[in-house]
Amino acid sequence: MSVKALLFLFLVAVVVTGCDTQSNEIASEVVLFPQPQELLLKGGTLRFGKDPTLYADPDFEQATRWFRHYLADGPGWKLKTTTEAEANIRIDKDTTLGAEAYRLNISEKGLHITARTNAGAFYALQTLRQLLPATFEMQHTVPRGAVTLPTLEIADAPAFSYRGMHLDVSRHFFPKEFIKEYLSYLALLKMNTFHWHLTDDQGWRIEIKKYPKLTAQGAFREETLVGHYNDVPRTYDDQRYGGFYTQEDIKEIVAYAQSLNIRVIPEIEMPGHAQAAISAYPEVGCTGEPVPVATEWGIFENVFCTKPETMQFLKDVLLEVMSLFPGTYIHIGGDEAPKTHWKSCADCQFRMLKEGIASEDALQSWFIEEIESFVNDHGKQIIGWDEILEGGLAPNATVMSWRGVEGGIAAAEAGHDVIMTPTSHMYFDYYQDSHPEEPLAIGGYLPLQKVLAFSPVPEGLSPEASHHILGAQGNVWTEYMSTSEQVTYMIFPRMIALSEVVWSGSKNDPEKAYSELLHRLPKFQQRLTIKGITHYNPLQRLDITFSLARDTLFAIVETPLSNATVRYEYAEEVQTYSAPVPLTTSGTFRAQMMEGEQAVGHAYSTHVKIHQGIASTLSVSTPPHPAYDEGGINALYNGVLGSSERFGDGEWLGFWGEDIAIAMEWNTPIAISKVETRFFEAKGQWVYAPKQVLVEWTTAEGMKYSKTIEVTASDTDTSLRNLTWNGELPQQKIKKLVLRIPSYGTIPQGAQGAGNPAWTFLDELVIE
Ligand code: ACM
Ligand code: ZN
Repeated sequence: MSVKALLFLFLVAVVVTGCDTQSNEIASEVVLFPQPQELLLKGGTLRFGKDPTLYADPDFEQATRWFRHYLADGPGWKLKTTTEAEANIRIDKDTTLGAEAYRLNISEKGLHITARTNAGAFYALQTLRQLLPATFEMQHTVPRGAVTLPTLEIADAPAFSYRGMHLDVSRHFFPKEFIKEYLSYLALLKMNTFHWHLTDDQGWRIEIKKYPKLTAQGAFREETLVGHYNDVPRTYDDQRYGGFYTQEDIKEIVAYAQSLNIRVIPEIEMPGHAQAAISAYPEVGCTGEPVPVATEWGIFENVFCTKPETMQFLKDVLLEVMSLFPGTYIHIGGDEAPKTHWKSCADCQFRMLKEGIASEDALQSWFIEEIESFVNDHGKQIIGWDEILEGGLAPNATVMSWRGVEGGIAAAEAGHDVIMTPTSHMYFDYYQDSHPEEPLAIGGYLPLQKVLAFSPVPEGLSPEASHHILGAQGNVWTEYMSTSEQVTYMIFPRMIALSEVVWSGSKNDPEKAYSELLHRLPKFQQRLTIKGITHYNPLQRLDITFSLARDTLFAIVETPLSNATVRYEYAEEVQTYSAPVPLTTSGTFRAQMMEGEQAVGHAYSTHVKIHQGIASTLSVSTPPHPAYDEGGINALYNGVLGSSERFGDGEWLGFWGEDIAIAMEWNTPIAISKVETRFFEAKGQWVYAPKQVLVEWTTAEGMKYSKTIEVTASDTDTSLRNLTWNGELPQQKIKKLVLRIPSYGTIPQGAQGAGNPAWTFLDELVIE
């Protein structure tokens, strides 16, 4: 027997045994993602058998076609059309319902769906899909007889009209088959918008007939950065890399998306992130100089010029783009466009004189308005990243708020539509777990819990402005995702949480909502596993904090589900965790989730250093930025150093652009032999160490002194800077120590994030 045949038998066995248990499970518990607005379980069951019959309003042809294919591909059932009276499934029109709303009523007699639009009917069928066995997701499942559905009533509608996922296909290219897969994930979770980031410095991915070199040349780079952008030195793989979508591919994908009620918003980046285009046509840049398609990540100074020929080039490109995408929106980028070349370009300076434009920021506004007016003339609307607010917002533009929610607030208050996609909650390229074995990512830290707690409408926004918040979107930048498996690992399960935010609505009690989500998650994980989709498992994570209570340090281990068992090892003892563990000697604390004698997930290992700072009373002049305050100020004196690879691990605290003073006081004065801390440096992520720190101390007798200490490069880690003070230490005992840490200041021209305030990331204050 072949391996294939064996596998088939195995699958059949799973399905056959799976089916009966499935029926019982369903009757007792209904698990749906995103959660419906109203669900009433009626306690009965409906047997739903092979080859069900359907009657649907003719307007719902597209939704029912999807369902017909779903049943044919999975269990191999036929969905036969019949009369209203005879049908097991009836889908009727109800013009009183909202645009994407539906009702699903399952009684002992059959299924009854009502909706106003095809989208509503489609979402009802996605709900039904999640009520059916997950094995139906498998090609050619062979269920034995009927499945049992619980009788229930669902009344459902989305909280937000914009429910989006983004995918960057420039940094890494994904074949059209995967784009379709990705769209199918969106559909399962009732997401309705795919933001397709098609062009950037590292590759132009959409065929433009008038300018064939955009793809012939601009879609390929000579090599790609290996490892992280912050590595010193940077290394490259020496492999030519690229790919693009033909216009036929695009049409196929757009049609497929339409069949799933997903609109596709293409993004054509301008005026920045244009190096791939300029590589193909150097004349559209300011200098005319040839440039390569970028081989590493970042922000590049090669931006589109504002001369008439380039404006015409962009309009020609947009004409072809608009003809391929039937939706209203065209995303024109607008983010991270350095103005260096514009400042020295005769054409751009002439443009400013001619149009009476006072600054290069205002020239960017002129540029965006010019493009907007062209796009509007063709019956479409533009979306831009929040930088398009700088220098004045184009009159009809929709703003995608990414550097925070502030841009979105300003735009909404000014009467513009807004999509919320702040880095703090919506960047799915950030780490989702602080374990060192997580696959390499750009940085940051965005656990599932935080996505679920996001509220797209900021508190305090006026009611009129609130109506302009259309929804939210998860962004998937792929610098560090070269395979589709990496993409799915980063989006699942965070996209599930996003779907709850934008469909079910913001949570009143985020902690409770998170706990409930974790309890419901296994059901969805089963579906992902059956579909062969790689995903991160938050149920296997340990959250370990090292925390002080009355001058003693404790290790506290939390598990996602309360019934999980943890084994820990510390000071040469191995024990089952039951309560916080007091730590009194320096050493390694190791913890592992267990199922019986079987280790589950990663082992977590932390080196704990007991030092005099732990027993101090510590205060900071400025709280850390909410995006990087995971560990609270406790992280500065809990005996645990931050990771030398990442600043998002909860042991580093981030401060944005502020000077910081940290005071440590001791009830009983101490003699010190060393004061030490570390700063992270990741210029690509706007993180800079200060050059020097002022240390002030007060002796037991009340005398005050100070000294400036230089911050120095680390011998071992290029991402770290050290503050070490062990010469000229106070001779007398001290009772107070203050570290005055200045912000690096404004990020210099030519660097990533130029002109923005630099971040300061601070580690443990080790006092010996
Ligand atoms: C962005 O992340 N540069 C929009
Ligand atoms: Zn120019």
